[in-house]
Amino acid sequence: MSQTLLITGGAGFIGSHTCLVLLEAGYRLVVLDNFANSSVEALRRVAELAGLGPDDPRLQVVAGDVRSAEDLDRAFRQAPTPIEAVVHFAGLKAVGESVAEPLIYWDVNVVGSQRLLAAMRAHGCRTVVFSSSATLYGLPEQVPIPETAPVQPINPYGHTKAAVEQLLRDVATSEPGWRVACLRYFNPVGAHPSGRIGEDPNGIPNNLFPFLTQVAVGRRNQLQVFGDDWPTPDGTGVRDYIHVMDLAEGHQAALETLLGAEPQQLTLNLGSGTGHSVLDVIEAFAQACGRPIPYSVVARRPGDAARTVADPSLATTRLGWRTRRSLTEICRDGWAWQSANPSGYTR
Ligand SMILES: NC(=O)c1ccc[n+]([C@@H]2O[C@H](COP(=O)([O-])OP(=O)(O)OC[C@H]3O[C@@H](n4cnc5c(N)ncnc54)[C@H](O)[C@@H]3O)[C@@H](O)[C@H]2O)c1
Repeated sequence: MSQTLLITGGAGFIGSHTCLVLLEAGYRLVVLDNFANSSVEALRRVAELAGLGPDDPRLQVVAGDVRSAEDLDRAFRQAPTPIEAVVHFAGLKAVGESVAEPLIYWDVNVVGSQRLLAAMRAHGCRTVVFSSSATLYGLPEQVPIPETAPVQPINPYGHTKAAVEQLLRDVATSEPGWRVACLRYFNPVGAHPSGRIGEDPNGIPNNLFPFLTQVAVGRRNQLQVFGDDWPTPDGTGVRDYIHVMDLAEGHQAALETLLGAEPQQLTLNLGSGTGHSVLDVIEAFAQACGRPIPYSVVARRPGDAARTVADPSLATTRLGWRTRRSLTEICRDGWAWQSANPSGYTR
């Protein structure tokens, strides 16, 4: 029988795409999500794309909170076969909100992870893939950024990611048998090429790409570009954009590597290794949607870096994984999602 995985936060942007990839790879999934930033409709569409009927036991949904021992216990008990591994996406991710509400961020991201690890121990599961972030490099001194770069986050969100990575290392060191992968994502964007699932943030998007797609579809008037005086070729910030399907496949590769080898701890950048400026993305998206994107240049934001690009070579060596999709495909698929779902999942 196929292996069962617990996916926390599986209804979210990255989680939903990863659920689809894992279902297509033959895993059974239990998703634990409190739908704080997502919709159950995303999982209904994941099931549909994977060819699963309603109530198919291969995708079970537990509406619950990762901070609740009872909800976690329910998720572990509901699994059709013992849970072999956990992919831990559940968390809060808005940098600005984390500055205003650090207690909530430490509670959900750190306490939630601690409760999850306790539940895993109680149920004899010691394999976990964790959603970490390039945010923990802060303002990097070396670009492309290797995993050996200093961890020096500059906001509470980044502090919580660094704390959970440390917690995972401490737990893995405390007893044998733990298999742990901390995946440091760069800038996940795009959508499944079907346009059926994609990114549907609550409120005003914090990141360039979802803001851009909402401007293109007429939900917002204009994009703001934060600074055109950075030390980059066109003066706008440069980031490493990774197609969410490449990222989802990275999770599958990490799981298979962990489950197929001796216990180990992996800390890996997941990025493309290529940087694109804000103006590059605006231009590529305008091509994809066939209309100009209105934007204005405003002052730099405090805490932004000029250039953030991954050195993803360790992930290629350890997982046999690399990104395959271009900025053009990112924009094509992002537009397929946003144009077919102008108001997202309308939760
Ligand atoms: N999207 C990015 O740019 C990015 C970059 C680096 C790291 N990450 C990390 O990846 C993970 C997934 O990000 P995403 O972009 O898919 O975000 P998302 O908000 O779309 O998904 C997170 C999911 O977790 C759920 N959730 C939140 N609090 C919960 C709780 N207490 N209990 C149970 N479920 C809860 C939400 O409802 C949502 O479905 C997060 O941990 C995020 O910090 C995201």
